This record gives sequence, structure tokens and C-alpha cells, in this order.
Amino acid sequence: MTRRTAEPYKIKSVETLAMLTYDERKKALERAGYNTFLIDSADVYIDLLTDSGTTAMSDAQWGALMTGDEAYAGSKSWKRLEQAVRDVYGYQYVLPTHQGRGAENILSQLKINPGDYVPGNMYFTTTRAHQELNGATFVDIIIDEAHDPLFEHSFKGNVDLQKLENLIEEVGADRIPYVCVAVTVNLAGGQPVSMQNLKDVYALCHSHGIDVMFDATRCVENAYFIKEREEGHSHRSVAEILKEMLSYSDGCTMSGKKDCLVNMGGFLAMNDEELYTRSRELVVVYEGMPSYGGMSGRYMEAMAVGIREAVDDHYIEHRIGQVRHLGEQLIAAGIPVVQPIGGHAVFLDARSFLSHLPQEAFPAQALAAALYLDSGVRSMERGIVSAGRNQHGEHNTPKLELVRLTIPRRVYTNNHMDVVADSIIELYNKRDSICGLRMDYEPPTLRFFTARFSPLAESGDLMSGN
Ligand code: F0G
Repeated sequence: MTRRTAEPYKIKSVETLAMLTYDERKKALERAGYNTFLIDSADVYIDLLTDSGTTAMSDAQWGALMTGDEAYAGSKSWKRLEQAVRDVYGYQYVLPTHQGRGAENILSQLKINPGDYVPGNMYFTTTRAHQELNGATFVDIIIDEAHDPLFEHSFKGNVDLQKLENLIEEVGADRIPYVCVAVTVNLAGGQPVSMQNLKDVYALCHSHGIDVMFDATRCVENAYFIKEREEGHSHRSVAEILKEMLSYSDGCTMSGKKDCLVNMGGFLAMNDEELYTRSRELVVVYEGMPSYGGMSGRYMEAMAVGIREAVDDHYIEHRIGQVRHLGEQLIAAGIPVVQPIGGHAVFLDARSFLSHLPQEAFPAQALAAALYLDSGVRSMERGIVSAGRNQHGEHNTPKLELVRLTIPRRVYTNNHMDVVADSIIELYNKRDSICGLRMDYEPPTLRFFTARFSPLAESGDLMSGN
């Protein structure tokens, strides 16, 4: 008998969930322009929009809030956060930022010159936006398999070294200020990068004098996959693996809202003193004093505790296991999902789920809207809408047209995952009744946040027969 496991925590405080009727959800969806970003959280039952800043903090973190030192300069809380980053991540220099994109802004401004190229293992929206705002062209160097939702690969986030070498040859190392390696790769489905690949990328870059900067947002999840899947690591602790992983980089940007287990915060870390000095000058301009960088003393205390809690082997095993608990039920029911199941989310393959819709009818956006309508579960489009437009004003048309079901850390139980699975399975059985969408309003940048849509069906209904 396989013995079942349960959450490695118990519940100390609860938050009541909204349970709307179908008609109430339909009205809420219309008000939101069929964009799940615009739905009021008061109208959401299970919120799988993001794992960002949605973590449940531990009692130790809540306790630490009271010890926050809110001094404008030289806060004790900052010292504790800086020490936690040094201990757990191993970087020498650390600067606090209000969240991950604050660190991306500073790094991009300092390292990029107009006309540069920044290679990365698939893009992330804000990361690429900052690179482009500073005049760089993003170049995708992830392995081809990452663009195939069904291709089984233990490390689907790996960098294709040949693609990287070709780019270096084509544009020259001096036009590549750094290579950005995400661990794990969000938009590929939360897929990890292997230790060997990280080592190889670092060696290749350094032989050309190019820096490697990690997007370490979900680095603990990446470390767990290495422990589980890569030969020679199963006996090591996640903490040990993480430290080795990060040693194959020159620094990182970090969204603390994910693997630091807090609701707000981030940092920029590096080993180069000169980059640190220049970064500190910009932190003052954009974030705040280098001893708080947009965070309060109490946030920094909570983050210092969260950084250490996240590398607890029981925590991370359950975290990945819960995401898998949802994913495996969907796979068993024949639902098209990105495989293998990644670290922070299950991604529905909307292209195949709604195969009757062309990509211009925004299948992932329509599926996310239909899921909310069916059960009040909020998910996120990660397809053509998120990919935005190119310099010529045309839609970028990513191969992956996905709906992301992102699991917040320590918030929901596996029963909630079962409710989500049931809703998706029922939707799949009536998938032909779901119509496409038209975009009625489109903002110029990061359009997925605020764009508005309406159903293409003449009846005006997203799902016929309901
Ligand atoms: N990098 C990755 C891989 C991310 O997933 C995010 C945020 C960021 C950088 C930016 O960090 O939000 O703290 O400024 N991802 C969130 C998400 C928004 O829902 O995936 P931030």
C-alpha cells in the first residue's frame, strides 16, 4: 500500500471563501471584461491566478513582524535579511527592492546598452519588458523541447548551448551584457534547469567574458527537481543543492513573493563589488535607502525567516507534491496539460483543449474565463495575450497557448485541488460549447493585465447551453 501524506503544517487562522452562484459569476466576468486579472477577489472561490505574494506566512514569520526595525537607515531587520541571503543563497552583496521587477529595472539599466542582446531561457513578461525598455533584444535560447507541451523531459528549462554559442558568434560577446537564466522557467510550465546545464552555461559564458545572472524567483523549486531527478543529488539537502546551483551565476534578481515565502519584497544580489556600488546608487533613486529598498522593516524580518523556511525539505517536498496532486488527476482524465508537471503551477494546453478555436480567438483567455464561470476558480492566460506585440505591431504568436493554474504556497489543501480538477474535467467534456473572444480594449504595454474582451458568439454567451 502507498501511504498517503498530508500537509506538513496545521491551520491556525482561516479566511472564509466566497461562494457565488453561476449567475453571479457570469455578471462578475462581464464586469471584468472576461479578463481574470480584472475580477474582484471578493468574487473568487479558489484563487490560482498566481503564486506571487499569495503565500500564507508561518507563525514564526508573523511573530518576526513585531521585531521589525523601521529605522530609515541601517535597520537591524535589513542586516538579518542580508545575512539570510548570504547564508542560504551564497551571494556576497545584496540590495533590497520592493519586488522582483525593481531588481530587474536596476540590473537592466546598469548592464544594457541600446542594441545589445540578452539571451534567456524563455522570456518572462516584466523581465523582457525591462530589457527592451533599455534597448536590448531578447533572444530565446531555451531547448526546443520546452515549446512542445507534451514532450517529457526532466529538465525542460535547460539552455540550448548551441543556440547560445551561435548567438555569441553572430553578434559578438561584447553585445551580450549578460545571459539571464531563470530557475525554474515560469512560462515553460515551471520547468527546471539541471545542475549540469547551469554548470555548462556558466563555463561557456565565462570563456567569453559574459556574466550569468539568474532569475532566482523559484530557485528552491528548481533545487528540489535536481534532488529528485538528477543523478548524484538524491542524498543531498535542498539547501545544499540550492547553494551549488547559485554558485554558477554572478548574481540574481529575486522576487521574494515566491520562494522567499512573503507577500511583498525582492532583492538584487551579486558578487561583483563594482556592480554592487553602481546598483546601490540606483536603488536610492528607484526603491529607497539601501537598507530597506521599498520594504518595511517588518517585511524584511518576515522575508529573512521565509528564506530559511523555504529550504526545509519537508516544506518543499509537499509544495511540489501538491502541484503534482492536481496535475496528475488531470493527466489521468486525459486533459491536455504541459508535461512533466512543473514546480509552481499546472498549465492547461488551451490550443489542444479548445482545438476548434484559432489562436487569434484567444483560446487560453477564453478557457480561463470559462473555468471561472464554471466554478469560481481563477486562473491566468499565458499565451498570445501575454506575449504582446512585436516592433511591427503584430501579435507575437507563442507556440505555447496556456492557462496557468498557479498554486499559492501553504494556502490551499489537496481538497481544494480536487475541486479544481473536477471543474476542469467537466469543462473538458463540454469544451465544444466554449466560444472564442474578441479584444475590445488593449493597453500599449503588458496588455494582459488590463485588456478587455467579449465573447465572439452571436448570443453573447461564452458557453452555450448554460
Ligand atoms: N521573474 C519571474 C520568473 C516571475 O515569475 C516574476 C513574477 C518576476 C520575475 C517578477 O517579480 O512580480 O516580484 O516583480 N511573476 C508573477 C507571476 C507576477 O504571476 O508569475 P515581481
